[in-house]
Amino acid sequence: MCGIVGYIGKRNSLNILIDGLKRLEYRGYDSVGIAVINDENNTNFFKKAGKVKDVEEEFDREILQGSIGIGHTRWATHGEPNDNNAHPHSDDNRNIYLVHNGIIENYTTIKKKLIIEGFTFSTDTDTEVLANLIEYYFRIKNSIEIAVRLALNEVEGTYGLACICNKEPDKIIIARLGSPLMFGLGKDEIIVSSDAAAIINHTKNVIYLEDGEMAILRRDGFQIKTIQDEDIFREAQKIEFNLEEIEKGGFEHFMLKEICEQPDTVQNTYRGRINFETGLVKLGGLDSVAEKLINAKRIIITGCGTAWHAGLVGEYMLEQYCRIPTEVEYASEFRYRNPIINQEDIVILISQSGETADTRAAMKEAQKLGATTIGIVNVVGSTIAREVDAGTYIHAGPEIGVASTKAFTCQLMSLALITLMIGKNKNTIPDSELMKIASELKNLPEKIQSIIEKRNDYKFIADEFKDSRNFLYLGRGFNFPVALEGALKLKEISYIHAEGYPAAEMKHGPIALIDENMPVVFIAPKDSTYDKIISNIEEIKARRGKIITIANEDDDEIKNYSDYVLRVPKTVPIFAPILNSIPLQFLSYYIATARNCNVDQPRNLAKSVTVE
Ligand code: G6P
Repeated sequence: MCGIVGYIGKRNSLNILIDGLKRLEYRGYDSVGIAVINDENNTNFFKKAGKVKDVEEEFDREILQGSIGIGHTRWATHGEPNDNNAHPHSDDNRNIYLVHNGIIENYTTIKKKLIIEGFTFSTDTDTEVLANLIEYYFRIKNSIEIAVRLALNEVEGTYGLACICNKEPDKIIIARLGSPLMFGLGKDEIIVSSDAAAIINHTKNVIYLEDGEMAILRRDGFQIKTIQDEDIFREAQKIEFNLEEIEKGGFEHFMLKEICEQPDTVQNTYRGRINFETGLVKLGGLDSVAEKLINAKRIIITGCGTAWHAGLVGEYMLEQYCRIPTEVEYASEFRYRNPIINQEDIVILISQSGETADTRAAMKEAQKLGATTIGIVNVVGSTIAREVDAGTYIHAGPEIGVASTKAFTCQLMSLALITLMIGKNKNTIPDSELMKIASELKNLPEKIQSIIEKRNDYKFIADEFKDSRNFLYLGRGFNFPVALEGALKLKEISYIHAEGYPAAEMKHGPIALIDENMPVVFIAPKDSTYDKIISNIEEIKARRGKIITIANEDDDEIKNYSDYVLRVPKTVPIFAPILNSIPLQFLSYYIATARNCNVDQPRNLAKSVTVE
């Protein structure tokens, strides 16, 4: 998500840090900051909301002189993206300066303890808490290395971090757990980064930290240890790839990278928000409206494109598990049809960017009519995130491919969490079912990963169908909106006409289109609709349509009905749309690449449509 850079050597660090931050720019960010230790062993820093190119001129080059420094580009998770919340963060005594990627989940508990110890805080971030915790141990142990180690043994969550200390100005301490971090070995210098993109133009010799490891970097060498203080010996590896490839993490396109990130991104959406034993969900951003949500008589969900499809899945979830009447509206239609909304209604706005003009306009309309507005948004600090009454971030990280993939599955996860929160409080979900759902959550990243590992199977099917002129996508229940989303993905990036339909509705019209040239994608997991879906498949087969099914791994029968079967692991119904959408993302991706389409920037489309 965020980007980290660091430099220790003999050169002036500022340009190297700024250049590194620019190279991390493709990740998207909302603020930027640098801290440098000068020759008199004083640390100076500058941080500001905005993009590197906008902020660059404001760096005071005379003050920010020094050959040791750290820098950061932020993708906000805790606290809105403003100057104050930008990294680096320091302790209240300005001894420690810290840049951090990831989330410290137990930061509130640690903060309370530090406040009792007399520490003060000036930002909303979890990172400032960690900086103060390091300083707390520094005062006891008088060693930055030990202080970082003790602090990291106390935190829960994830981190990639780089830390400098005024009182030990000849080193950078770095550490990693769940967030990538590496350092490049130059001549008498070391360059740190969360991403090889910031290192590769200085050196190709790189050492990657593993989870649970830290490193002490000096001008003349380094030491790697575990955070349990065991020594680690590791040789440098040669980076063989070019800059462009690294930015995409070795993937050919951002879209493919983003599809493959989903085991992590879906986990980021639920991380720290659910008790796996009891199924109790806590969404901090919704605290102020929790009561209203639980007692809601009606919920209206609105959004555009992929977000609207997520809303449709949300409708199935909220009605089935919470028994709350739910309607889904295109945001672009909402305010033009004089909607009947009253003060008791809840309007949920779903938006990856938080900036889509139609969704913003729907939010304003709902607010004007007195409804309570809730945002499900990815970009922290975006307009919708700021202006709704309450909200929850999906934590998908920057999504760069125009066709939304990981944001969709994270939106589905957010909706599932809201559903579980309401269902538990309203007692509309039996405890036994809630516990089953909660414990299944832990298996989900692994199940997503198992789909990703089979992605090469799709290339063959893509070659077979790349010249088709039309596609039909069919599903029932929770999987009907997934069919719509599958069809949208194909249209967006391959320019093949595709339609999604509820499977049973097909015989009321689209069946007239079926002949041997029509591929039909069925979403056919083994759930309560399975037998009905099989009948629908038979109807297509009788008319010689080509059948591609998304089916569970243990379903042998399906082979008898399908020309091609794409397998997904079985899961509980509420999470099935998450797993079932991933094969559809791959299918559209591989068809589009087989047609040589520009997958990341399809013609006529924009990532965020800020005009109505
Ligand atoms: C554009 C994008 C779609 C996206 C829609 C809504 O049309 O091309 O991929 O689903 O906007 O965007 P939002 O940022 O509000 O989710």
